[in-house]
Amino acid sequence: MDLKLYLHEQCTRIDAALDRFLPKETDLPHSLHKAMRYSIFAGGKRVRPILMLAACQAVGGDSERAVPAACAMEMIHTYSLIHDDLPAMDDDDYRRGNPTNHKVFGEAIAILAGDALLTEAFKLISDPRFTDGCEASGLLAVIHEIATRSGSYGMVGGQVVDMESEGCRDIDLATVQFIHTHKTGALIKASVVAGALIGGAGGQQLAAIIRYGEAAGLAFQIADDILDIEGTTDEIGKDAGSDEARGKATYPAVMGLAAAKEEAQAMMDEALRALEIFTEEADLLREIARYIVKRKN
Ligand code: IPE
Ligand code: IPE
Ligand code: MG
Ligand code: MG
Ligand code: MG
Repeated sequence: MDLKLYLHEQCTRIDAALDRFLPKETDLPHSLHKAMRYSIFAGGKRVRPILMLAACQAVGGDSERAVPAACAMEMIHTYSLIHDDLPAMDDDDYRRGNPTNHKVFGEAIAILAGDALLTEAFKLISDPRFTDGCEASGLLAVIHEIATRSGSYGMVGGQVVDMESEGCRDIDLATVQFIHTHKTGALIKASVVAGALIGGAGGQQLAAIIRYGEAAGLAFQIADDILDIEGTTDEIGKDAGSDEARGKATYPAVMGLAAAKEEAQAMMDEALRALEIFTEEADLLREIARYIVKRKN
């Protein structure tokens, strides 16, 4: 399989759908809608929506049915990035190869663009235009999963511990593991679980997908920590070296770069093991797990 081509095709598919689903810049308020579209279309890799479609397919579902929820997940992820970059949080200037949202639109609009993306995401998942014929209990399970992983027991909770741990000495592995599984792992897990639910997964399939999502999610953030050290701002499209400058609790900070690389690899292996119950229908998920740890941006 040509993974690069596959990822490119899926990005194009997701981008076209996002363009249809997002509020138009010509609709009022122009500044808000421009800011929302600016960060969405600044050039993300679309890993979470692609994972959702791949998980839906892995359990035998029609990935087309997961497109609205996949776009919703990208909106939530992009909101988390806009807020993560704010002066009150990581205070970063570059994102997706462009100036951060608040640098272009100001802090107030950046905060509100994030708020609106989060809210629009749930509007989209529950939009009657796409939910006609869906079983209500299945749809509610998807909404509940995404809301749980996005909120204080998920991504937002992880962001809080990330900030509270900034500059602290002697951060232990359990704390950094909590941060990573929550601030990043939670949305990745939600992406594959929602995809599996939409695809009509059985209990055993769902359990495997959950295990995959947890391992791949942690691997993803360890790889992000490594890229912050080894990548350049040009390569990663965001401020390289930002973690060390802010004294962030990262895997390399706690265990050293070499051990962090081994841990990322071990988590990738765990993600692959989780998929053992599947045959070739999960090959895309397998390829994406490998890509997560070897990516350069
Ligand atoms: C960056 O996520 C923030 C993390 C949670 C590590 P991505 O690396 O998926 O960023 P984009 O979406 O491609 O810009
Ligand atoms: C980001 O973690 C997690 C969320 C945005 C929820 P980081 O702060 O490490 O992400 P980057 O490196 O800025 O993309
Ligand atoms: Mg951060
Ligand atoms: Mg950051
Ligand atoms: Mg980072």
